[in-house]
Amino acid sequence: MKIALLAGDGIGPEILREAVRVLDVLRGEGLKIETEEALVGGAAYDAHGDPLPEATLKLAKQADAVLFGAVGGPKYDTLVRNKRPERAILDLRKECDFFANLRPATVFPELADASSLKPEIVSGLDIMIVRELTGDIYFGQPRGITGDAPNREGFNTMRYTEAQITRILHAGFKTAQARGKRLCSVDKMNVLETTQLWRDIAMEIAPQYPDVELTHMLVDNCAMQLVRNPRQFDVVVTGNMFGDILSDEASMLTGSIGMLPSASLDANGKGLYEPIHGSAPDIAGKGIANPLAQILSMGMMFKYTFGRTDISDRIEKAVRSALAAGLRTADIASKTTKKPSTTSEIGTAVVK
Ligand code: NAI
Ligand code: MG
Repeated sequence: MKIALLAGDGIGPEILREAVRVLDVLRGEGLKIETEEALVGGAAYDAHGDPLPEATLKLAKQADAVLFGAVGGPKYDTLVRNKRPERAILDLRKECDFFANLRPATVFPELADASSLKPEIVSGLDIMIVRELTGDIYFGQPRGITGDAPNREGFNTMRYTEAQITRILHAGFKTAQARGKRLCSVDKMNVLETTQLWRDIAMEIAPQYPDVELTHMLVDNCAMQLVRNPRQFDVVVTGNMFGDILSDEASMLTGSIGMLPSASLDANGKGLYEPIHGSAPDIAGKGIANPLAQILSMGMMFKYTFGRTDISDRIEKAVRSALAAGLRTADIASKTTKKPSTTSEIGTAVVK
């Protein structure tokens, strides 16, 4: 197993350090994991004038998995678009063909006290959104703005090839197989031909997964159902744009950005694993960031790239026992938290 460690900017290095401490425990037990670090984002721009240097990309391609922190910061906000740190993550996805974005939205019972959300709706929530990342209206040609005021026109094209739809649907079915065996495919087939094709292909593929129950839902209904009764879902699979919106909506059901991991996978199970949050410049350098999204991202890596659900389960259990012991960083503090824990105190509890 070879893992590329790309810490990035802001709280990235602070939270990745805690994940590596957990990795060291597994190494101490004899697990063979090789790691190599490289600069990415603003840190790479400062050193090499490029947010994704050739050497970093090469390492990411060689490794079985990339464990990514976060990139960006106010210092870089004036840079032109192709030099901005956030470019690195977009280019990594594209260059490595990480087309399947997996974003779980999970509410741990141990955190119920910290949630301001309605328990009768979200308690025990455990859903997974699988979003396609490389196609759809974000990439389709033609696109642009033409004409002169007051007659300008803006246009984009929603396009998916059969190959693109097929591979993301397979990723959705396989994810459902590894979980609760229910897959909800989300489209807008009543008005969009692209997603009519999506639904047709979903129904054609379904017989290959007899153990998975496939349902279909229109995207507007899905947006409503996620708020009304999110626990009805197991795995949701959808295109790039619908998935962008629905995954942000689903993440807010958990109420804690510092807790949410993600995976972006290629067709062979290689993947990039990162927290869904950014570099949190407002708290960087203070040692108070929540490292759990990063640690849980590493847990996803063991499950989806290395097929070691025993290790991912163990990591999740360790996270939950740290929470059960009452440890809380400020972002997940509850009324009964006397003094919030630091980043490394949480790491230590997980290691223990
Ligand atoms: P952000 O996610 O970095 O922060 C939003 C809020 O959540 C802040 O108040 C922050 O302190 C808090 N927060 C985030 N992660 C936390 C954690 N682990 N523990 C405790 N609190 C946490 O989003 P924001 O402020 O919009 O963006 C900051 C920078 O990050 C920008 O440059 C943005 O472009 C970049 N960014 C990078 C991403 C990536 O690397 N994949 C994703 C999203 C944003
Ligand atoms: Mg988004």
